[in-house]
Formats: sequence, C-alpha cells, structure tokens
Amino acid sequence: MTDKDANLVSTEQLSEMTGKTTYATPIFGSYAADVEMPETKLNNDPIEPRIAKEMISEYLSTEGNAHQNLCTFVQTYMEPEATQLMADTLEKNAIDKDEYPMTADLENRCVAIIENLWHADQNEQPMGTSTVGSSEACMLGGLAALFRWKALAKKAGIDIYSEHRPNLVISSGYQVCWEKFCRYWDIEMRLVPMDKDHLYLNPDEAMKYVDDHTICVVTILGITYTGRYDDVKGMDAALTEYNKTAAVPVRIHVDAASGGFIAPFIEPDLEWDFRLENVWSISTSGHKYGLVYPGIGWIIWRSKEALPEDLIFWVSYLGGQEATMAINFSRSASQIVGQYYVFMRNGFEGYKEIQMRTMDVAHHLVEGIKEMGLFEMYEEATECPILCWSLKEDAGKKWTLYDLDDRLRMHGWQVPAYPLPVDMEDITCQRIVCRADLSMTMADKFLKDMAAEIKNLDNATVIGSADTNISNKKFDHSGR
Ligand SMILES: Cc1ncc(COP(=O)(O)O)c(C=O)c1O
Repeated sequence: MTDKDANLVSTEQLSEMTGKTTYATPIFGSYAADVEMPETKLNNDPIEPRIAKEMISEYLSTEGNAHQNLCTFVQTYMEPEATQLMADTLEKNAIDKDEYPMTADLENRCVAIIENLWHADQNEQPMGTSTVGSSEACMLGGLAALFRWKALAKKAGIDIYSEHRPNLVISSGYQVCWEKFCRYWDIEMRLVPMDKDHLYLNPDEAMKYVDDHTICVVTILGITYTGRYDDVKGMDAALTEYNKTAAVPVRIHVDAASGGFIAPFIEPDLEWDFRLENVWSISTSGHKYGLVYPGIGWIIWRSKEALPEDLIFWVSYLGGQEATMAINFSRSASQIVGQYYVFMRNGFEGYKEIQMRTMDVAHHLVEGIKEMGLFEMYEEATECPILCWSLKEDAGKKWTLYDLDDRLRMHGWQVPAYPLPVDMEDITCQRIVCRADLSMTMADKFLKDMAAEIKNLDNATVIGSADTNISNKKFDHSGR
C-alpha cells in the first residue's frame, strides 16, 4: 500500500461523508477536500457537479494566465455574448447538416463571406468548408493539389509511380502541419532556405526547386515565427511564366493561417489572394485573427476545377445526402456559430478597427523594445501584429534570451526564446504575437517588467546560462 493509498477515503467513509454534505455546505467544508482527482482509473463513486467543477477549475488555474501568453496566435478572448452563444450550441454536430440545416446555412454563409474577403470570382464556382483549424485545412489544400497533379501528370505521360516522388515547395519557415502532410502522403518536402535578407520565400530561389513532379508551391501569410508574408505576387508571376511551357502547370496554396484575416483589413490593396491567377486554394485559422476560440479553420478553392471530385464524399446520413470534404467528421458546430457571430457583430469596419488597434499595440512594443538599445529587430509588425528580436552581438551581456525568457515567466509572461530555422539556427530570437486582448496598458506593463528583468540579469551572476540551454532547444515549427 502506498502512502497515497493510505490517505484514500474508503467507499463506505465517502458515502457517510457524502450523506452529511448538503448543497448548503461550503465546497471546502464538504467531503470534496478528501476526494482524489482520478489519474489513471475512474473513481468508484460519483461526486456533486459543483465539487467536480471547482476541483478541476482549481487544478487548471495553476497553468497560467492565457492573456499573458504572448507566444500563441490562438484567440484568448471572446465577448460574453459570443461565449454564451457558443455554449448554447455545443451540442450541435457540424457534420449533421440534415438535422441542423440552419447551422449548415451559417457555415455556408461564413464560406461565402470569406470567399468575398479573398476576392473569389463566383463565376468560377469557388468552394470551401470549415475545418478544425489550419492544419486540417492545409492537409486538404495539399491533397487537392496532389490529386490534381496525379491526374494532369498521367495525362502528360509522366510516370507518377516512378521512384521520383511528387514534391511540394515551401520555405524553411514552414509550420509543422506541412511536414505532417508530406510525411503522411509520402511527398518530398523541398525546403527553400531563408537568409537574413530574405526572411520569407524568395520566388527566384523557389523556382529552382520546381519541376514536373511539383504538386504545388505553398506560400505563407505570414511565416509562423516572424509573421512576415511570403511574396505571393512574385511567386504567381514566376509560375505564370513557368506554366507557359510546363508539362504540368504548378499552382499556389496560400497558408494564410494568421494573415488571412489581417491582410484584407490592414492591406486591402495587397494582392495575395484569388486576384492572382495561380492561387488555387487558401487556408486560414478562424481561431487566430478570425477572432474565435479554438478550433476552427477554413479552406477555399478558387473554382470547381481546383477541388477534384475525388475529394468530395457524398454521405447518406439521417435522411439526407451531404457533401463532406473535410478529413474530420463529427465535431461541435459551436465554433462555426462563433465565427458567424464575430462576422455579424464586427462587420468589415469592426474587424478593421480591432486589427488596427492590435497593430498599434505591436508597434508600441516594437518602439519600447528598440529603445532598450540591446536588441536587433527581425520583424517590426510590418504586416501582422508580430515582432521578433535577437540580442545584439555587441550587446556585451553575460545573459541570453533564454535567461530573459525565464525571468519574464516570473511575471506570468510567456515569450519563449528559440533558434531560427535551418541555416540561421545560430541566431536566437524572442517573438511576441499581439492579439486583440493585449491592451496598451498590458503592453506597458510588459515593457516595464522586461526592463526590470534586464536590470536584474545585469546585476546577477548568471550561472550555467546560454550554452547549456541552447543545446536543448531546436527551432519549433509548431509556432503555436
Ligand atoms: C503558417 C501556419 N500554418 C498552419 C498553422 C497551424 O494552425 P492550426 O493551429 O490552426 O492548425 C499555423 C499555426 O501557428 C501557422 O502559423
């Protein structure tokens, strides 16, 4: 018997204690104080809902304040009305369009609204769907490209079963979902290196990787670790030229996980979307700058031709014929309802105002961090509200960004330090992703805390710093 077992309350004791507990008993005066939270095996007996809720809430409350997590792109605030609406619709199954036709209608409206934001031409019959997030949406974009390539390559007499695998061209700043896609479907991932002068996909360089076995070029809006946009227009022009003589034309999938809901509002004249002829599919995360809690994503194909029939499944379910083109099947429709709420609530101008304010906060942080005089800025929220910096080589500090990362956590801030991707991994960066719930006041508090911790680090003798930490860290393609 372990010490832990010795402390456990027996079923008899528990039922006696439960019997004495009434709804009027304060939670921590009740038997709850002695109930173990199950770890590997169900407890024998049920407990009151209020007690289960309180215990789990307490347990979760130890993991930090989401608003201070400055490394995540994912929404950490929605209005109470939205939260209520989403809670009220949790039981609706998004896939069950026959039982929930009005919910399905809201999904179709969201798809149409996004098509409009991204300048899809209705004459080309664009199609789209919601997904769990960008990862699923990217998988679908990649799969459509693979299926299109197989059909066209066969027609062009290319041996698609040869040892020469199909490939996908993307910058080395890719998000991990693309590595997953390539591994799951046995695609060669051709990484176009970035350098200090090109912290995004360089179209001329990318073209060196394109051949008859290329299923698509993926451009990113923006790159996970800096927020910089790939040059989609430049890539489109290069492919237009290439496609004039190509055996198999190569198209673009834009992974607009974060930029898909920023560019239309902040830079409406920037051409990155279906205005460009080779952009055949675009994915985004509704739960990033789409302003909805996780998990929701979207993918749109520019035309019927862009989405091969083989990827559409017609499911006979509960009396109806439903088209499903997502990988996932059942999930709650509450995020779709949440997305529609934010669209309806904000309108174009409301979204614009939120994204502009978020950009203002990001620029304020850029200025504050630059004023400290110690950091080289790699990204100054030029396109997305994301900033990224490294410690200047001549800063003359004994500490590293890993040390600063640790110290900031003491104030609740999460601003992880990490090395840049291949060919630049000797540079260590810190990144802040500003979201709508990071106010100017909070940004000022962050700058104050950062300045104080720099002072503390300067004054401290840093034991076992930099080198030991760096050796354990790798560029994290998840980006979060
Ligand atoms: C460029 C990019 N693509 C895809 C993803 C994956 O997004 P999700 O978490 O919505 O699956 C991310 C997440 O950070 C991203 O930055």
